[in-house]
Amino acid sequence: MTGSIPDDKIQLMREGVDLLELVSRYVQLKRSGANHVGLCPFHSEKTPSFSVNPGRQIFKCFGCGVGGDAFEFLMRIEGLSFPDAARRIAGEMGVDIEERRLTPAEEQRRQELERLQRVNAIAAEFFHRQLLDDPQAEGCRQYLNRRGYGRTSATEYQLGYAPDRWDGLTQHLQQQGVDLAEARTLGLIRQREKSRGDYDLFRGRLIFPIHDLSGRIVAFGGRILGEGQPKYINSPESPIYHKGQVLFGLYAARQIIRQMAEVILVEGYFDQLALNRAGVGYAVATCGTALTVEHAQLLKRYAKRVLLLFDSDAAGRSATFKSMELLLPTGLETAVVELDAGDDPDSFLQQQGKEAFVARLKAARPAIELFMQDRLAAMPSGAAGVSRAAQQVLEMLILLPNPLEVDLSLKELARRTEIDIDLLRQQLEQIRGQQQQRSVRRQVVAKKPVAEADSSSAPHRNRPQNQLTPADTKLLKLLIFEADVRQQMEDQGVESFFYDTASCQLANELIRQLQGVVSGQELTRLQQQPALLERLPQPLVYDPAEYAGAGRQMLVSYQQKTADRRRRQQLKGHQEREF
Ligand code: UTP
Ligand code: MN
Repeated sequence: MTGSIPDDKIQLMREGVDLLELVSRYVQLKRSGANHVGLCPFHSEKTPSFSVNPGRQIFKCFGCGVGGDAFEFLMRIEGLSFPDAARRIAGEMGVDIEERRLTPAEEQRRQELERLQRVNAIAAEFFHRQLLDDPQAEGCRQYLNRRGYGRTSATEYQLGYAPDRWDGLTQHLQQQGVDLAEARTLGLIRQREKSRGDYDLFRGRLIFPIHDLSGRIVAFGGRILGEGQPKYINSPESPIYHKGQVLFGLYAARQIIRQMAEVILVEGYFDQLALNRAGVGYAVATCGTALTVEHAQLLKRYAKRVLLLFDSDAAGRSATFKSMELLLPTGLETAVVELDAGDDPDSFLQQQGKEAFVARLKAARPAIELFMQDRLAAMPSGAAGVSRAAQQVLEMLILLPNPLEVDLSLKELARRTEIDIDLLRQQLEQIRGQQQQRSVRRQVVAKKPVAEADSSSAPHRNRPQNQLTPADTKLLKLLIFEADVRQQMEDQGVESFFYDTASCQLANELIRQLQGVVSGQELTRLQQQPALLERLPQPLVYDPAEYAGAGRQMLVSYQQKTADRRRRQQLKGHQEREF
């Protein structure tokens, strides 16, 4: 660390930082006049007394009295020192402050990512200029025009055109002095197999740039002009792009999503554009991939409610229920907007207009209700069919974190199937029990080698790698995804949570690696450390709802168990010595 941060830089950041955006990562805010209000993150309350004034760049809680600027907020919520908070804000805003020297490896990594970023920026600019000015992009401009988009949308989205040649981008990058190896890493170009040189991935396509949450272009989607296969080509995964963590449109829409506390999830790039054009500016789309748990967690940071608005076909229906399965456990209210058969949001808006569309949005129905209807309709009639459908619905119901909702759904299911409600309740509990048993069985399997080791009196035993106990798995996930748990583990020492040496080492390593990582970016950071990632529980999915419920209690009980084990172990060691 070198010296203090200059005052003018502090001032610059204090005025320039997007305080609303920053606070909204932690607090669900609702607009109220010039302010945005929500539940105070610093004390427990039921009615919102926490307020952010974006104009004045300050926050204040009228319940507990805490208030201040962006630095103050970050310091409190993340438990950071002032310099650390300043550093984090500087990093996000791209303000250059005097920085601690990174280790050579970190510095190398940082520069590599930055260079990749720059290559994407150059490519995006190239595609964009082509679309706006190049005579050869006429076909693409006409295509866009036919779909109702002109220069304004092209500029707003920074749309582009990839020329219909093998080396349009390759040549441009070369002229710009770009290291082609970097463009290859990004998947923008590929090496020829039979001859020398590279060729472009995107050729003769309309280009959609895909932004991360800092507004940087991390990938592209490219649509063929008109009919043909493949309809879309997407950038492959790269060190700066993980498609399971990025949503198209989220960067631009994040403020309004927060204000609405609601987000619409659509399937396609053009659906997102169509909604935005119709004045519905809080839609996002996955980028040629199914929704992931990480997507769900991301949405949870911005919204309370998700409207699923997929194409009205069999694939869309199935995607709807798969998405619901990921969204429900996060506690996000999940509803489904239904269109007419064969429609997607884009075509619906074209044909029926905005008013009809808004009516459909208003008529959105709870996803679980739709699922129930769908299952009951799909099943063959007769006792066996009905009971199978009921079973499927019950299996979905155990995902709901809210017991009231479960109860209402159970009543509905009883009414529709004419199955006795108490029977349904029993069955629901049985399914829950089976799930728990399944995890216990896994535990027993995982514990086998430990049982053998138990006869030794070594106070810390080493478990073979990748043989984490269920408790360790849970604790590691909490450590990774819950900043306050991580802090607590750091404060109290990982040994009071984890029992074996290997797990303790792993936990300490994680704490080091996740230092200063913004909530929601944990996976991105870990993905930069494949060797570490390999040692973590697989799959690395985390359900925040579990922690929100019994989390703290759970943490305490893990601590007690570990302490008990230590005591027993010591006692045993003691007895042996006496003997
Ligand atoms: P759709 O086929 O529904 O396309 O795929 P679309 O978005 O409605 O586009 P238009 O309106 O027909 O032009 C939905 C999404 O699935 C991904 C893209 O992200 C697309 O937006 N997709 C589709 C691909 O990645 N590759 C494909 O070949 C097709
Ligand atoms: Mn579509």
